[in-house]
Amino acid sequence: MDTFKKLMVAGVAAAMTLSAGAAFAKEFKIGLITPPKHTWSKAASAFAEELKEKSGGKHSASVFPSRQLGNEAQMLQQMQTGALDMAFMTVAEVSNRVPNMGAFYAPYLAKDIAHAAKILRSDAAKEMLKDLPRKAGVVGVGYGSAGLRQIVSRDPVENAASLQGKKIRITPFEPIKDFYNLLSTAPTPMPLPAVYDALANGQVDAIDMDLELIWKLKYTEHAKTVVLSNHMMFPMVGLVSAKVWKDLDKADRKMIGELMAKHVDSTIDSYVAGEAKFLAEVKKTDAKIVMVTPDFFGTTTDKWNSIWSKRAPSLAKLRAEAAK
Ligand code: BEZ
Repeated sequence: MDTFKKLMVAGVAAAMTLSAGAAFAKEFKIGLITPPKHTWSKAASAFAEELKEKSGGKHSASVFPSRQLGNEAQMLQQMQTGALDMAFMTVAEVSNRVPNMGAFYAPYLAKDIAHAAKILRSDAAKEMLKDLPRKAGVVGVGYGSAGLRQIVSRDPVENAASLQGKKIRITPFEPIKDFYNLLSTAPTPMPLPAVYDALANGQVDAIDMDLELIWKLKYTEHAKTVVLSNHMMFPMVGLVSAKVWKDLDKADRKMIGELMAKHVDSTIDSYVAGEAKFLAEVKKTDAKIVMVTPDFFGTTTDKWNSIWSKRAPSLAKLRAEAAK
């Protein structure tokens, strides 16, 4: 073979290796909206550390908490183009693109935090991830959690009528907006970093939030009633850009997928173990805790179910899992 042909053969072989993908090392970027001390951010850092170790230093990952790479809608868009590699993201944001994911927000689908863990680890939940590459341009490796939702109010709350007409901060996504609209409140979509000031200056009357952040972000400094309702789950999902995923070789996909699934799943255990402590910490503040049961929300839950059973076909399967 002459020198030119040898070079051509070597070039084609090199190109084939590259297109088979990711025999090469990669430094991944992982985006989150949560602050560095949040359970999700800690899990992302633990994933990054173990990725380096398990890949023998071939791969590494840098974690960008606190919306450093943008809000979740922007991060999802970046993952679609391959500009961002990975995210630990609210299922809420994903449900804006894939309404079927809204099934997780059925009020009282989970009766407590341990039950929520069981639902998130079910086959029905895993099956819902299959749509994500086609519908959202991301691969979902598994679920995590941020506990259950509560309401923190500036004014006293005696019953659901106390909330009517009130501006209630919500995470920006449709299922929760419907819930608070059906409750005759004025749901006010707002990203996490804006919540403290909005509550402090009265821009909103109340917030929809989980116990960990009610405690850690000190919302009770400006709102003295915590309605302990546990009315909804708040799942997270570990995502990899489908474009990035496609370029990984089979062994890396398996290793990275399993490792990320392990670390997002660890947050489920963190909330099962932590929920009692978070509540104990909130109880140490001067806020009044109002414990309520599902009947507090009257017909809202049924009305929500009739809307979302049509928009989220997987709701029936999740319910069947929840009933097991
Ligand atoms: C929220 O929008 O309330 C939220 C987002 C991420 C983690 C926990 C809470």
